[in-house]
Amino acid sequence: MEQKDDLLKEVISHAKEYGFVFPSSEIYDGLSATYDYGQLGSELKNNIKNYWWKSMVQMHENIVGIDASIFMHPTTWKASGHVDAFNDPLIDNKDSKKRYRADVLLEEYMEKIRLKSEKEVEKGIKKFGESFDEAQFRATNPNVTRNNEKIKAVEDRMRSALENNDLVAVKQLIEDLEIACPVSGSKNWTDVRQFNLMFSTEMGSVAGDASTIYLRPETAQGIFVNFLNVQKSGRMKIPFGIAQIGKAFRNEIIARQFIFRMREFEQMEMQFFVRPGEEMKWYNQWKENRLKWHAALGLGDENYRFHDHIKLAHYANAACDIEFNFPMGFKELEGIHSRTDFDLKQHEQFSGKKLQYFDPELNQNYVPYVIETSIGLDRMFLAILSASLKKEQLEDGSERVVLKLPASLAPYKVAIMPLTKKDGLPEKAREIIDQLKFDFNCQYDEKDSIGKRYRRQDAIGTPFSVTVDHESLEDNTVTIRDRDTMEQKRVSIDELSAMLAKRTALSTLLK
Ligand code: GAP
Repeated sequence: MEQKDDLLKEVISHAKEYGFVFPSSEIYDGLSATYDYGQLGSELKNNIKNYWWKSMVQMHENIVGIDASIFMHPTTWKASGHVDAFNDPLIDNKDSKKRYRADVLLEEYMEKIRLKSEKEVEKGIKKFGESFDEAQFRATNPNVTRNNEKIKAVEDRMRSALENNDLVAVKQLIEDLEIACPVSGSKNWTDVRQFNLMFSTEMGSVAGDASTIYLRPETAQGIFVNFLNVQKSGRMKIPFGIAQIGKAFRNEIIARQFIFRMREFEQMEMQFFVRPGEEMKWYNQWKENRLKWHAALGLGDENYRFHDHIKLAHYANAACDIEFNFPMGFKELEGIHSRTDFDLKQHEQFSGKKLQYFDPELNQNYVPYVIETSIGLDRMFLAILSASLKKEQLEDGSERVVLKLPASLAPYKVAIMPLTKKDGLPEKAREIIDQLKFDFNCQYDEKDSIGKRYRRQDAIGTPFSVTVDHESLEDNTVTIRDRDTMEQKRVSIDELSAMLAKRTALSTLLK
């Protein structure tokens, strides 16, 4: 799995072969940018959700969770700005007929320049070894500084064009930079147009404008419209948060890269309501807090970085992404946004209802400011799957494919395997499952040789396999094998539960 280009393909085929992710409605050749989670994928997804919910909601006294409906009153989306401003600037290449997001073409152009600088730095490290002063090199190397200047110039023009909704300037920038279509190689572009990403449908039996409703493009608005309901019924005091996990829908222009960019996906969002003026303190605190949450998974600190937004969304006064090193390179995994009082104020205006908080300490009413943390569940799934999939050479010259999932997120925590299908071993194995199944998702497996069964469990990421043999019937012991080290040891069946809890409980990540 070392070749990065191939890794995404490996992940996609592994996910399908073992029941993690299937193309949606595949018997009809699938539906673009929609996927179904299979038997193991749903388990992994649920475990990721639990990790998020437990750490964000249940471990914070001042954060509560809700589950709002996907359909909302259509005025919600007028108020939030999505009807007018939830657009992507798109451009078509006239030769390949391929459609692109203009801002993505520009981002990719800048990323290529950045990678050139990284290569210079790598060369420096190789040449000078220990004595290499990276910071100084970055500040003074003429190639690196020239590249930085180029990136800055593109960023400035792009920001100004997008902020002013000047689509002619966006096209001009693409032409000036001589960006070519990756498919046709030509620079024969159409004008840039805005494209609204919301799906709409009709409610009730009568067609017409009045009944047009939208599939929510973010879960956040379900939280905003319930701000007062939750604050009052939960007697919440600022600062406090409302969290939610749920589906969102976007008619993405470029839908590719597997579950990275889908038209139907799931978000895990939290809106943290704070006093006006205190938002930057909380913004920085949540940035730190969320990065820690990611780091606890042990997928490698070097795989995460912050990326400040060049163009702020219509509601934000500060925003950044936590990017992850996906098989396609560093891309957005989570957004952290300081959304000001934009949403609540808009809903006040459009609904004619006050959405304010009385702060007893200040003896004052105000519309709170909001810090939002928003992570795509499917992207998190892809991050974990791609970072965990490994091919290892073993001492005997053979190779194994192993999914080194964080143990507490693995679909099965333990596989119980009778050495043979007779002599009472299957019964003993099932007895063990009957003890463990209340606390751990167990898999029973009696088919094929033990070696093959271990490989199968490695491939689906089961952290422990337990073999029941004839000795087990005599002294109540079994062999337990560790997925990562492949070490085996003999333990008493009575110890199993405590051992598994110590290594696979969610608390190992949360503490
Ligand atoms: N409420 C703020 C919001 O929705 P966003 O940056 O548009 O912000 C938040 O989306 C997160 O949702 C992203 O960081 C990403 O993980 C996920 N996401 C957005 N669009 C997605 C898509 N088409 N497919 C999968 N995940 C997506």
